[in-house]
Amino acid sequence: MADLLSFTEAYDDGDIDTNRSGGPCLSAIVDERYSRRQTLFGGVSAMTMAAFGTTLLSGCGSDAEDNTPPTVSAGQNAATTSGKLVTLTATAADAGGSVSSTVWSQISGPTVVLTNAGTLSASFVAPAVATSTPLVFRFTATDGFGATATADSTITVGPAVLEFTAVPKSLADIVAVPSGYTVSVLYRLGDPIAASTSAYANDGTDTGFSSRAGDHHDGMSYFGLLAGANTPDANNSSRGLLVMNHENITPAYLHPNGQTLVGGARPEAEALKEMECHGVSVVEVTKNATGAWSYVQASALNRRITPLTPTVFNGPVRGSALLRTRFSADGTQGRGTINNCANGMMPWGTYATCEENWAGYFRRDTTDNAQRSAKQVTALNRYGIAVTSNRAGNNRWSTVTPSDASSTIYARWNLNVNAAAAADGTGDFRNEANQFGWVVEIDPYTPTAAPRKRTALGRMNHEGCWPSVPVAGRKPAFYMGDDAQNEYLYKFVSDTPWSTADAAPTDRLATGDKYLDKGTLYVARFDATGAGVWLPLRYNENGLNAANAVYPFADQADVLTHCRLAGDALGATKMDRPEWTAVNPQTGEVYLTLTNNSSRTLANTDAANPRYYNDPKDGRAQRGNPNGHIIRLRENGDTSEATSFSWDIYLFGAGSDLNPANINLSGLDATNDLSSPDGLWFSRSTNPLGQVNPLLWIQTDDGAFTDQTNCMMLAALPGKVGDGAPRTIVNLGADDTTRSQQTFVGKAPGGTLRRFLVGPKECEITGVDSTPDGRTLFVNIQHPGEGGNPAAISSSWPYTQTGAATGSARPRSATIAITRNDGGLVGL
Ligand code: FEO
Ligand code: CA
Ligand code: CA
Repeated sequence: MADLLSFTEAYDDGDIDTNRSGGPCLSAIVDERYSRRQTLFGGVSAMTMAAFGTTLLSGCGSDAEDNTPPTVSAGQNAATTSGKLVTLTATAADAGGSVSSTVWSQISGPTVVLTNAGTLSASFVAPAVATSTPLVFRFTATDGFGATATADSTITVGPAVLEFTAVPKSLADIVAVPSGYTVSVLYRLGDPIAASTSAYANDGTDTGFSSRAGDHHDGMSYFGLLAGANTPDANNSSRGLLVMNHENITPAYLHPNGQTLVGGARPEAEALKEMECHGVSVVEVTKNATGAWSYVQASALNRRITPLTPTVFNGPVRGSALLRTRFSADGTQGRGTINNCANGMMPWGTYATCEENWAGYFRRDTTDNAQRSAKQVTALNRYGIAVTSNRAGNNRWSTVTPSDASSTIYARWNLNVNAAAAADGTGDFRNEANQFGWVVEIDPYTPTAAPRKRTALGRMNHEGCWPSVPVAGRKPAFYMGDDAQNEYLYKFVSDTPWSTADAAPTDRLATGDKYLDKGTLYVARFDATGAGVWLPLRYNENGLNAANAVYPFADQADVLTHCRLAGDALGATKMDRPEWTAVNPQTGEVYLTLTNNSSRTLANTDAANPRYYNDPKDGRAQRGNPNGHIIRLRENGDTSEATSFSWDIYLFGAGSDLNPANINLSGLDATNDLSSPDGLWFSRSTNPLGQVNPLLWIQTDDGAFTDQTNCMMLAALPGKVGDGAPRTIVNLGADDTTRSQQTFVGKAPGGTLRRFLVGPKECEITGVDSTPDGRTLFVNIQHPGEGGNPAAISSSWPYTQTGAATGSARPRSATIAITRNDGGLVGL
């Protein structure tokens, strides 16, 4: 509700007196000013109508006898801020008969959409503004005689502010949001997404996850659907497709009594279930007339993409010898996707899913190094598949003996070279690891289309892939973090300038081919000056060739498949675990979460990763950068094509009790202290939340601050690169030695950063999008109760959310929908 204006001198009711007819009837002596001034803004219109309207009608004759115009009020002038839902409340009565019609219209100010304009109570969402801006609305009433009366109301809109009450840190087993908001659980692990699939028993006996929601919901985007058709309508806020990643599994809860091994081998049914719980969901969701969201179990558009779904390779690595396997002799085909973490929403209406911690799924024995070239071993080591002892691979899937002896869906997880197989890799799965670590593009509207692995964007622990703001005629960029300690930030710049005609193409994946298969991959170097450079990863430039002493690159496919090694060669900056990227839709500035880094040392801090400290928990030291930070950059010339940038650190994670001079550098307090920022997303520019000064959502995946609170989501209204100042901090080593580090600290956020949500026990908050109108926010709650097992359940979320709760129900990852009780935009 808008606040009352303090300056009431703007009040002007002179235009109400539009008497173009004969004299008033007796009852019209009721002073319209009296009724208007007694009606508080947004207040008692119904009571006013009851008090005056009926009296006036009964006291007068028909319009034929008396055409005195109606008596109207447009309510009080008022003040509000961007993004708020404002209700205009009018009164109308007619002394000579009845009011036959009323209408609200806008007279001045930034144009808004008036809802219920033909009634006494119209509403609108306050537009995004940079400075205080008046909007004038006129209420007009017409009587049966055609006589009209009008009254105006001025609503003065100020810049966006966070007004919700911060949610306290909490260890409770529930999703908490501010008062005035409602959480509903929408799509949970195991929920059936085909008409014939049974309800989820959630006792470990369920099967058939290729038609159920997967586990560990992660990155997510909403794609609008046309009403009554299965085709896109990007602006539809009541029916769409939620596309989300299922990053991993909490295996203990997927089987009756956890994972089993029989004779050293995993049972096939268990392994198949676990595989199918990974991947991506496409699921139709709708909002009903009362505003409640549900998913459509029988939708023809529902789809699960799993590690078994056929995929194809595109871009420079397609057909490379590096991709050849027993399954794909020509290196063009793949099977599925795995450990899909963050995401991207492409400007042409597709979803990018990103393969993150894929390396852990593979078996490799210590004997395998001897079967490979030194170059191959270097590559495997650099990508986290070194063997100092035998690696079984996550979940030991390669141990399964398949019921179909010809099946290789389990054998593929074994990277060991079979010395008897073809040397080019087509007879075993020695190259299978090269099939993962990519950005994978999915057309959510076409269930039959094979996902395309976009190799031009490089191979790494891909966290997310977020596009620059599309500008006609300019080559778009795609920003990507490689999430492991001391890895890099990358961007891919397309060779193809953006054409606005491609915003709604008929063939979305062909449009993806156009923008994502040819271009330049860059890696970031952050300099101590506050400047930065994008270093191009091009074969045969800057030593990226066969003469490279560490890793002799053979061609561009080799550079892209091993872009970490290329980044090493070029001197990229080792970061504190690059997680999500987000692009401010107004300024184009790029934000990057650096979640934490326990291997940052006192000696190797740098300006962009400046902290080394101890944040003890439960009497145990946590050293390095346990709380993480968020860095941001502004491209030189504000163009996605730039090869250099400036940067500063927007936010430092820290408990509010930590040293403000050297650790809590952003001055966080109890309303906004956080640790391990991970998910990061700017509100859509299709509504005021993403306009002028866009709202940023920050999600945490934390283990350092969890003695004080479960993971959380915060709302922020950040400024710009350079709004703070250079600063020198003093880092303190474990042996009490100190080392000074200069950095660039953004303006302290103060009230522009506030905790909006705290999740249930042992969860991670990750994945966020809104409807285009900003009135529903979708958020994923990943792995609640992940530390427990069927014998010791440590969370019963989401059952706890509705009070049905219990310590006996197994927890489930799930998507929630958050709405505001007044129907307004979520977050301001
Ligand atoms: Fe899957 Fe880096 O988080
Ligand atoms: Ca993440
Ligand atoms: Ca994470």
